[in-house]
Amino acid sequence: MESIRRNDIGKNVRIFVVVTVISFGFMFVIYGTYVSSFKMLSERFGYSNSTKFSVNGLEHLEMERKAQFPGHAKTPKMKVPAVWTYAPSEMRESGGACEEMDKIVVNADFVKSFIRNIPIFIHNPRRDYISSQINSNHDHEPHIFNIISSFLAKDRDMNLIDIGANIGVISLKAAMFGRKVISVEAAVSNVQHICASANINRVTKRITVIHNAISDNHTSVTFVMGKDGEFGGSFMDDGNFRDYKTRKSGVKFDTQNLVTIKTIILDDLLLLPNINDFKSVFIKMDIEGSEHKALLGAKKLFRMINVRGVLMEWRWHVERPESKSIILEFMEENGFEPYALAKLAKKKLDGKTMRDSDVLWLPKSL
Ligand SMILES: *[C@@H]1O[C@H](CO)[C@@H](O)[C@H](O)[C@H]1NC(C)=O
Ligand SMILES: *[C@@H]1O[C@H](CO)[C@@H](O)[C@H](O)[C@H]1NC(C)=O
Repeated sequence: MESIRRNDIGKNVRIFVVVTVISFGFMFVIYGTYVSSFKMLSERFGYSNSTKFSVNGLEHLEMERKAQFPGHAKTPKMKVPAVWTYAPSEMRESGGACEEMDKIVVNADFVKSFIRNIPIFIHNPRRDYISSQINSNHDHEPHIFNIISSFLAKDRDMNLIDIGANIGVISLKAAMFGRKVISVEAAVSNVQHICASANINRVTKRITVIHNAISDNHTSVTFVMGKDGEFGGSFMDDGNFRDYKTRKSGVKFDTQNLVTIKTIILDDLLLLPNINDFKSVFIKMDIEGSEHKALLGAKKLFRMINVRGVLMEWRWHVERPESKSIILEFMEENGFEPYALAKLAKKKLDGKTMRDSDVLWLPKSL
């Protein structure tokens, strides 16, 4: 009798302890969800208040930095990715564009938004198309990263080279996916947005930013920005491409807002000290009609690096026989063949007739 009762008591105590622990656990989870959803909501209302975007953007960045470094009277220098620029015959870590982020952010259009649940800094969504897409849909062309990630997922050692990174939507997604990224971007404000977003997501170590335009030689080029601060379609003013693009896209460009920027060739990326992290890569290339020039400067890169796939914007080459044949010839020589994006890369295309706006190149051995 005695021992049975003692067992009962022991059992009751154990049940009591277990129930208490579970209830505390539940309360904790509910509290956590409440706090985080409240935080998300307040942030949302903050950035969707469209009266003063840049002011709101700044406020958010300030909040975030305070939260990140509690107890610091003076906010330490913002952590940013390594930013490299080409100097005669070498790649140089310059910091450059992102060196004084704390000050730059004060004067620029940094608006905090989200891609799904990943915070990202966008431009004023009223002026910039990609930013407006992110601001209202909390994503931008999700199918592009879906394809890229389906390849990255096959191999943990496959990393990304993002050529024409814009504000870093794809770069950021890949970094959050756990991969290393080289982000090449010519527009200084886009570079700064990549830095700020890498900072807020704490992936500064995974992203290496190259602040240059890409061509087939080393020179300085004029970069044409969109009208009213539009960044998405900014492009290299090369030959008669400006006329062609204006005619094709109907987009107005800001001829007052011309920026001079140094070009590099893709083979220069081989000079990066961390290039050994990129032995096996997927390449995304979206550089507004200069894709053929980029490839002409990438002969060594394609030989030295195991390129597992190239997702390329094609729309500017459909009706430009010259650039089109350069790309077809280069990809053929390097053993790639074109696929449509739409059918999950199952539909092979005929390079000569393809009219898709994007194309996926895969090695023939697949
Ligand atoms: C937006 O924010 C400003 C200043 O914070 C505030 O005065 C205004 O009422 C807000 N507008 C909306 C629509 O919430
Ligand atoms: C170098 O590249 C620029 C920009 O693409 C181009 O305009 C120029 O013609 C090129 N120069 C040579 C010598 O190929």
